[in-house]
Amino acid sequence: MFKERLLTPGPTMIPQQVLQAMEVPMLHHRSEVFKKHLLTAAEGMRWVLGWDSAPLFLACSGTGAMEASLLNVCKPGDTVIAVNGGAFGGRWAKIGERLGLTVHEIVVEWGAPVSEEQVREAVTHHPHARAFCIQHSETSTTVLHPVEHALSIVKSMAPTMVTIVDGISACATAPVPGKPGLIDIFIAGSQKALMLPPGLSVVALSHHAWTAVEETPRRSLYFDFVLERKALASGETSWTPASTLIVGLNAAIEMFRAEGLEAMYDRHNKLSRMSHTALRALDCTLLAADAPCPSVTGFFPPNGIDADALRTEVRKRYGIRLAGGQGKFTGKIVRIGHMGFVDPFDVVAGITAIGKVIERLGGSANTTAALSAILSEV
Ligand SMILES: Cc1ncc(COP(=O)(O)O)c(C=O)c1O
Repeated sequence: MFKERLLTPGPTMIPQQVLQAMEVPMLHHRSEVFKKHLLTAAEGMRWVLGWDSAPLFLACSGTGAMEASLLNVCKPGDTVIAVNGGAFGGRWAKIGERLGLTVHEIVVEWGAPVSEEQVREAVTHHPHARAFCIQHSETSTTVLHPVEHALSIVKSMAPTMVTIVDGISACATAPVPGKPGLIDIFIAGSQKALMLPPGLSVVALSHHAWTAVEETPRRSLYFDFVLERKALASGETSWTPASTLIVGLNAAIEMFRAEGLEAMYDRHNKLSRMSHTALRALDCTLLAADAPCPSVTGFFPPNGIDADALRTEVRKRYGIRLAGGQGKFTGKIVRIGHMGFVDPFDVVAGITAIGKVIERLGGSANTTAALSAILSEV
């Protein structure tokens, strides 16, 4: 028997404390008890994000929150700039098309971060774009975009452009970049480092974002941020919330407070470093070696080893689920997630399984050497 381990970039493993917290008789979402949970979660996420006001909670996965953000600050005919360096970066344009927006994409090579020149050029050509959208970590390519640098350029060239950051796979693995006000809308999702099941999104808005929301025609009932802000002021959500997840979120935030945010970010960096060192020692080629994100590591297996066969064998033999590639990386890469409830021993388990399966599939991996290269980190 091997334990089931989800070393995937979402959903992720959920700690016992969080599971137990959610195992309560169903709370009514208009009850005083739930109101307390909601307001505690709002204050907790405000702390996690280092934001100056409480974020909103939406009962949807991250894509819903991306769509809601564009819906609330853009009207049909508006122009938007979006960094597209992977499957999630490409999602902005797909959403924008449905909403009647013109999306100018900054096309970034998969596996690379957006560059300063690309950002400058896009804003120079579209200075009146309503919004600038970017992922903090682009989960499909395992890249961490230089959000602080990119958005500082945006704000210096076009101060009123609404900056929207998809922090879904970065939240709780790295600090929210920049000083308050640099990011106007920051989005987080439950099934990543927040250590929860899927179905809850968190959306934080700056003062500037709220002004933009107020001047934008309201086009969605379900995703009306003005209604949500009003509801939250009295400890409620407009519609039935993902209440069980909100209860679980408070247990997760308690764990974050016990570990400390800095220690949590250090742990994620360490898990990323361990993965990089060991995978290199296994002759794998790292995908985003120059700009790796702390939540997930992508790699091409050594020559001759099929990425999907590697993943399948790792799951069948050792109970460890890894993720494959998306879009143009389908069947080519493997991604090992190390976000949320993951410790160095989980990475040791993942690397051991990957090394042994590479050997089994005919590769010349030296698993012992890869492990001894990272044991000092444990
Ligand atoms: C960077 C990023 N953006 C957005 C999403 C949202 O996807 P979903 O709506 O499937 O949760 C994800 C989820 O994997 C993600 O990693």
